[in-house]
Amino acid sequence: MIRSLLLTLFLTLPYASMAADLANGERINKNCALCHGIFGQGATGRLSPRLAGLPEYYLRKSIADYISGKRSNPTMMKTSGLAQMSQQEIDDVTAYLSSLKIARDQRFNILQSAPGNPENGEELYMDDCKTCHAKDGMGKEKKDSPPLAGQHPEYLFQSIQMFKGKVREHADDPEDETFTDYSDQEVLDMLAFAATLDDTLVVPGERFMPPRLMAARPPLPVPPRPAPSGGLRITDITQTVAQMELKPGVTREDAVQAMLSKAVELNLKLVGSQEVSRELEARGVETPFLAIYQFCNPMDARTMIINNPIFASYMPCRISLVEDAQGKYWLMMLNLDMLINSQLLPQAVVDTAIKVNRQMLDIMVAGATGEF
Ligand code: HEC
Ligand code: HEC
Repeated sequence: MIRSLLLTLFLTLPYASMAADLANGERINKNCALCHGIFGQGATGRLSPRLAGLPEYYLRKSIADYISGKRSNPTMMKTSGLAQMSQQEIDDVTAYLSSLKIARDQRFNILQSAPGNPENGEELYMDDCKTCHAKDGMGKEKKDSPPLAGQHPEYLFQSIQMFKGKVREHADDPEDETFTDYSDQEVLDMLAFAATLDDTLVVPGERFMPPRLMAARPPLPVPPRPAPSGGLRITDITQTVAQMELKPGVTREDAVQAMLSKAVELNLKLVGSQEVSRELEARGVETPFLAIYQFCNPMDARTMIINNPIFASYMPCRISLVEDAQGKYWLMMLNLDMLINSQLLPQAVVDTAIKVNRQMLDIMVAGATGEF
């Protein structure tokens, strides 16, 4: 029995580790969806690049750069679980994201969102960018360069600011001078041109359907994994709750103080708090610690309910501080991105949901680490 089990393991392992497991990638993507959207579509603004459809070589490279510290993104590293993942898991999630061909659907087509002149931009692009990012803007594997077509222009603009300021390395060359002589307007022109390049990918009438890989296959008996220390855990049972444990040394009071300060910094209002366990103790009931903090940005709330009043039921956004049976403290929140899992909503709603998720995560990370 044991021998045949070992044999089976021996025979299946090499294959299992060769091919990417897309269903597992879909599961891991829940951790990314909080900031990048459930379809990896990203959001307008500087802080949510599109990942869907990016080539695997570039996704793997940029993830490796964040893990090694070559690129810096502390909130993502604390919440995505990337630093704790095996190479196989990273391959799974990159293969999954890469397989999402949303650019074929007109509704995901990137539009020029900043003032720029695509005609001026085309000339500059063809002179200076084409060699590495390709004539069609799709990037080149042998140059390790990403597509610029189909990426959110504000994010690209921000990246170029980072290249100029030497905060991020362009073209794998610490001495790179590509952008020194460009004015902001010229950069905007080039990005306006880049935003036209994904138009060729659109297939008229195509409607993107997210794959339902997890649903399609019977659940595998997954051995319970310990929560990565300091990382975020998306609860597998419901897949709607994101939770983080308080870092050793961070007290309840530190956590609350850090969360409230972070909320002020992000312009999120604390609209309520409920010290549930304290109330119970006052009545003489013994109970684990539980306190609930409620945050709201009225303008975001408005955007959501104008689209669909049902979103009101998710408001205000809550973070709970709760003690488990081992006496450990956890911060928990609902993953708003699950709201947009089932259907395609207008861009403004998706953008808002992603932004709110990110801000709530920032608050949670501040609380869990005691830093703000
Ligand atoms: C807390 C929000 C957050 C979470 C969660 C998150 N990311 Fe990110 N991610 C960002 C931000 C912000 C950037 C842009 C940072 C920059 O400019 O370098 C980014 C950038 C990236 C990039 C680089 C894109 C490019 O064009 O260079 C990749 C790849 C990436 N994330 C993958 C992931 C994956 C995979 C996950 C889930 C396992 C994930 N991220 C989870 C916020 C997040
Ligand atoms: C010598 C090759 C080369 C040339 C020429 C080049 N790039 Fe790049 N570019 C790269 C590589 C490689 C990367 C990926 C950097 C990384 O891994 O962080 C990159 C990344 C970028 C990014 C960030 C994309 C993202 O998803 O984060 C932008 C924006 C960009 N390039 C714009 C341009 C523009 C505009 C030009 C022309 C003015 C240009 N590049 C010319 C090689 C090049």
